[in-house]
Amino acid sequence: MNFKKNILCIGAGYVGGPTMAMIAHKCPQYKVTVVDINPVRIAEWNSDHLPIYEPGLDKIVRQARNRNLFFSTEVDQNIKRSDVIFVSVNTPTKTFGAGNGMTADLQYWEKTARQILQSAESSKIIVEKSTLPVKTALAMERILTSNQSGIYFDVLSNPEFLAEGTAINDLENPDRVLIGSHQTKKGLKARDVLVEIYENWVPKERIITSDIWSSELSKLVSNAILAQRISSINAISALCEKTGADIVEVSKAVGMDHRIGDRFLNASVGFGGSCFKKDILNLVYLCQNYGLHEVADFWKGVVNINEYQKERFVLNMLAAMFNTLAGKRICLFGFAFKADTGDTRESPAFFIANRLIEEKVELVITDPKALKNAKNDLDEFKEEVSFVEDPYKAASGCHAIAILTEWVLYQNLDFEKIYRSMLKPAFIFDGRNIIDHQKVFEIGFNVYPIGKPALTHF
Ligand code: NAD
Ligand code: UGA
Repeated sequence: MNFKKNILCIGAGYVGGPTMAMIAHKCPQYKVTVVDINPVRIAEWNSDHLPIYEPGLDKIVRQARNRNLFFSTEVDQNIKRSDVIFVSVNTPTKTFGAGNGMTADLQYWEKTARQILQSAESSKIIVEKSTLPVKTALAMERILTSNQSGIYFDVLSNPEFLAEGTAINDLENPDRVLIGSHQTKKGLKARDVLVEIYENWVPKERIITSDIWSSELSKLVSNAILAQRISSINAISALCEKTGADIVEVSKAVGMDHRIGDRFLNASVGFGGSCFKKDILNLVYLCQNYGLHEVADFWKGVVNINEYQKERFVLNMLAAMFNTLAGKRICLFGFAFKADTGDTRESPAFFIANRLIEEKVELVITDPKALKNAKNDLDEFKEEVSFVEDPYKAASGCHAIAILTEWVLYQNLDFEKIYRSMLKPAFIFDGRNIIDHQKVFEIGFNVYPIGKPALTHF
């Protein structure tokens, strides 16, 4: 079949896979290929067990795969054949050298640029899909224009705003699609090619355009502001615990002001995920680089409060359970960084598990989708941790339960049955405020929510 356009995505991860599946689903006239250097990941994308769990993803992948959606490890060949290349490789926080622990590690990104340059035989549009520090597109452009062959590359910024767990809906009905381009004739022409792809399903008024640097910065700032809301409410949850106020009541009252809005005001054990912390630290590093130290400190505070919230949760457990956790059996309900995903990157549960192991706890971990990743993450603690799929079996014989992921399934459990199987006094630490605290208190549990008075039988 003759396709109207050949679209390539380099990087078959949480962004590359679902984003390209959506383009293929909405645009049968395009051939969409996703490549990755990781052969296992590609084999999984081509199998019945996709490498990531995302509600609704299986269906659209199954419909489009081998029709106009292809997964491959052949990077060079596919670069040659493509008209538009999305780059969606990982951009983790650097763990060495200058900017260690703060700025983005751009080695995967730069390798991709060099590979495109090496393999391309015709002009192409390169779309920066990964989240990157401001002016990274410029670096990409400099590498790409270092060729002598007369091939021309337009570099666009098109940050992705999907959230895991709701990726398919976010991609299908995005609040906005943002495209940054040079404001030159060529830049605008390239931009229009990308606009045309999105116009296949996204209403025109939701496709917004800007210069490249503003687009790159908007992505960092969106994540920073979302995380800032969580840290704001989490900071107040600590005050609620001291004063007897209730964070849920406070969030509700505050969020009903339509200027503030009610989303992202759920107090929790802390935000996780591969991006919030990484992107804020990127922003902080950028500000520091430009000598904007007060601005850097402001945003760094968002990360600091998040670390504080996770540590506070552990210290609350310790204080409630008579200042010793050594030898106690504690069950973690949830290990994913949020519900509806198996992703455990930067999960608060990982931090808390490590801290509890330091306190010599015997851990039992349960999660409906993240046990495989949890086992990998805690590989070094084979003696201290066990993994049990069934939450009832996981909690049996434990002194306490800590709810760390907001899976709906935990709201609907039979807590009477769970209580009967646990050691007494039995404790529940609800790090997501998702269960009916009064009801489980009446069953017999000592209940410690986030940002609300504890309900105890002592
Ligand atoms: P990921 O780690 O899941 O996937 C990245 C993939 O790129 C990996 O499979 C890796 O093998 C591959 N890769 C690395 N170098 C390569 C190369 N040279 N050639 C081919 N493949 C290569 O990462 P992700 O979560 O999909 O994130 C990708 C980018 O998107 C990051 O910059 C992230 O900040 C951003 N982002 C992520 C999300 C999210 O929800 N995960 C949302 C918005 C934006
Ligand atoms: C986030 C953003 O929401 C996306 O727009 C962005 O594209 C993405 O980061 C990214 O750049 O990677 P994601 O991390 O997948 O998406 O999930 P969120 O729904 O934002 O949740 C992040 C964390 O905050 C989770 O641990 C979640 O449990 C926590 N959270 C969220 C709270 O603690 N309270 C809230 O009110 C909301």
